[in-house]
Formats: sequence, C-alpha cells, structure tokens
Amino acid sequence: MTPTIPPITVPGDKSIAHRALILAALAHGESVLRNVPAGLDVRSTQHALSALGVTFGDEGGALHVTGSGGALVGPADAIDCGNSGTTIRLLAGVVATRALDVTLDGDASLRKRPMRRIAEPLAGFGADIDLSPSGTAPFRVRGNPHAVGVEATLMIPSAQVKSALLLAALGARGVTRLDGAIASRDHTERLLRAFGVACASEGGALLVEGPAQLRATEIDIPGDISSAAFLFAAAAAVPGARVGVDDVGLNPTRTAFLDVLRRFGADVAVEAHGEGAEPRGRVTVCGAALHAVTIAPYEVAGLIDELPLVGVLGAFARGTTVVSGASELRVKESDRIATFAAAARALGIELDTFDDGFMVHGPARFHGGSVVTGGDHRIAMAFAVAARAAAIDVVLDDPDCVAVSFPGFSRALDAVVA
Ligand code: S3P
Repeated sequence: MTPTIPPITVPGDKSIAHRALILAALAHGESVLRNVPAGLDVRSTQHALSALGVTFGDEGGALHVTGSGGALVGPADAIDCGNSGTTIRLLAGVVATRALDVTLDGDASLRKRPMRRIAEPLAGFGADIDLSPSGTAPFRVRGNPHAVGVEATLMIPSAQVKSALLLAALGARGVTRLDGAIASRDHTERLLRAFGVACASEGGALLVEGPAQLRATEIDIPGDISSAAFLFAAAAAVPGARVGVDDVGLNPTRTAFLDVLRRFGADVAVEAHGEGAEPRGRVTVCGAALHAVTIAPYEVAGLIDELPLVGVLGAFARGTTVVSGASELRVKESDRIATFAAAARALGIELDTFDDGFMVHGPARFHGGSVVTGGDHRIAMAFAVAARAAAIDVVLDDPDCVAVSFPGFSRALDAVVA
C-alpha cells in the first residue's frame, strides 16, 4: 500500500461524546472535553443537560463543563432528545436514581423506538417510568433518590441499555451487578474509570458501587470510527482507491468493521498511537476486487452501525454477502433492513431480506436512481458511498439528515483518492 496519502480527520466519536458530557455534568468540578463533535445528536445531549441545570463554556475550541456534583435540577418542560436514541436512553438512566421528575421526548423517528428495554430494568431501581402504550417516547421518569443497587441480566447486547443501567447505578446505594449481554461498546465503563469511579469487570459481570463521586477530568475524544467507516468503504469498493483517517478511535469494541473490510479483500493498515482511556490511531484503506462475506449473529453487536455499509460493499463483491441475527436493525433511526433494501433495489442491487438480516447478490449492475433515506443518517451516507463508488447519479430525498452524526460528510468523501 502507498503510505503517502495525506490523512484526514473525522468528527469526534459520538458515543464517547454523549457519555463524556453526561459524566462531566455529574462530576464535581470543571471538566474539559476536546474534539466534541458538532453533530446534532451530541447537541441534543448537551441541550438536555443544560435543561437539567448544567452550564457549558467554550474556550479555545474545548468545551468546559461545570459539573453539578450530581445535583441536577428538574426542567419545567419536556426534554427534546431530537433523533438521538443514546441521549434519551442514557438520560433516563441518569434520572432513574435521582430526585428528578423529567419527561423525555424526541422526533418522529425517536418516538417509534422501543423504550421498554430500558424502562423495565430501570424499574428495578424503583424508578417510575410511564411509557406510551406502544412502549415508546414521550415518557415521564420519576427517579427514586433512595434507590439501592440491583442485579440485572441484560437480554439485548445494547450499549445504550447497559449504559442506562450503569448511570442509574451511580445514584443508587450499594453495588449494581450486570451480567448477560454486556459485550457491547465499553465507552461508559472506560469513561467511568477516567472520572474516578471503579467499574470492575469480574467473571463476566460488571460491578459499580454507588453513590459514586465523580471527579472532573479532561477528555480528548478521538475521531468516530463509525463515521470514518463510510470513507473506508468508499475506498474499499474501488480497486486502487485509497483513504487515510488520522486520530480515529480504535477501541476494540468498535473496530470489527476493519476486519470485515479485510475479509472482503480490501487492504487495511492500522497504526495505533498508544493507549489512553480510548485507543486511537491512523487507519489507511486501499480498495480491491472484493469477494462476498458472511456476518454471523455473534458479530452483529460489534458492527451494528456499519451493517448498511456491509450491504453496500456486498453489492460490489463477487458472491452472496449474508447478514443474519441483526433484528436490532429494525429498530434503529429507521427500519434499516427495509430502508436499506428499498434503496438498494432502486439502484439495481439484487437482494433478499429476512426478519433479522439480508442477503446481497453481487456484483450488482448499478444504475442511477432515487433513494428514500427514511431520515436515517447512516442510510443516506451508505448510499452516497454507493453512488460515488459505482459512479452513478443518486438523489437522496433527505441529504441533510447526515448532520446528526457527520456534518461535512460530502466534503470528507472527496478525500477518497481514486
Ligand atoms: C450506541 C449504541 C448502539 C449504536 C448507536 C450508539 C451507544 O445502539 O447503534 O448508534 O452510543 O451506546 P444500541 O445500544 O441500541 O445497540
């Protein structure tokens, strides 16, 4: 691989930023967060925390957060979490064990997403959560400031559910023990330690003891590998195309897509820049003639946000690319199996769908067309990648929806050298 392409950077990691903001808001003292992404989802978390009485200041490009020491104040109105599932689910966890009465709401997409997955385990802390009859937002959370730690077995490998429970545990007296499906992205665990809270991993379980005192700290947020993934795919799909992304997060719970790119046949080079709370480094991807891959159910949690891209790359690969065990895709910002399939067919890609996945028959005979994104940022970006790599004209019905995670995406895509 030619090592000399100038690398670019991508916006800071959204998952890390939500958590860093929330933990800084709960901490004693002033935290400094660097490289907080400008995407709308993270703005939703910041606005929500402002509504709970937290103050922020911008100094030299870094965000200074004046921690509440846990003394958040109840807002007068419902908090609008926009399009962000991470905002609404993590905040529900924060409120669950505090003397707060908060109504959480979101946009039309967020109002369709399942919330029983957090409401039921948070009820174990004595929180009172009134979901709509369909188990969705808007919902009211009346926290229990006398909560005690719980033992819970997670049924869905969702970092949002795990994090909601860990955040609730901070306000509960005694040990909270989580086991079961805890092998999802581990940013909350890492950041808790950075804020001085012991979060132990013992015999397949996570343990946190409350009430916890968080110490303000400085966090430098690496680039979002799930955003960089769109650039990597745009290079991987075209033999000889290249892109390099610097200072991107390399947390092992988030890098599975790099291995999938290699399985497709792309050339992927990773240079780690040493370990901090969150590992980071430079990733360079060079495209090749691709061959189909099969994603097994056990791999899905580590690839959850990249699966639309796996489908797009499947259309460039020889053979049948299969994704199964991915029913969680049905409850993302859109039903990502249905929106992916309709968009793919509109561009000449042949595929079959099932309840929990899809099968793409490649290589596709692409043609131009119109894509209905369902307002889903990852669908919009996945098909912008397809358009570029297949050199076809694609009209996205809502190109602006990429702003929730990757403002400036189109410009960044131009960094892929053909
Ligand atoms: C996220 C967890 C994942 C992911 C989402 C961000 C997080 O959702 O899809 O984009 O920051 O915790 P699930 O917890 O629903 O898998």
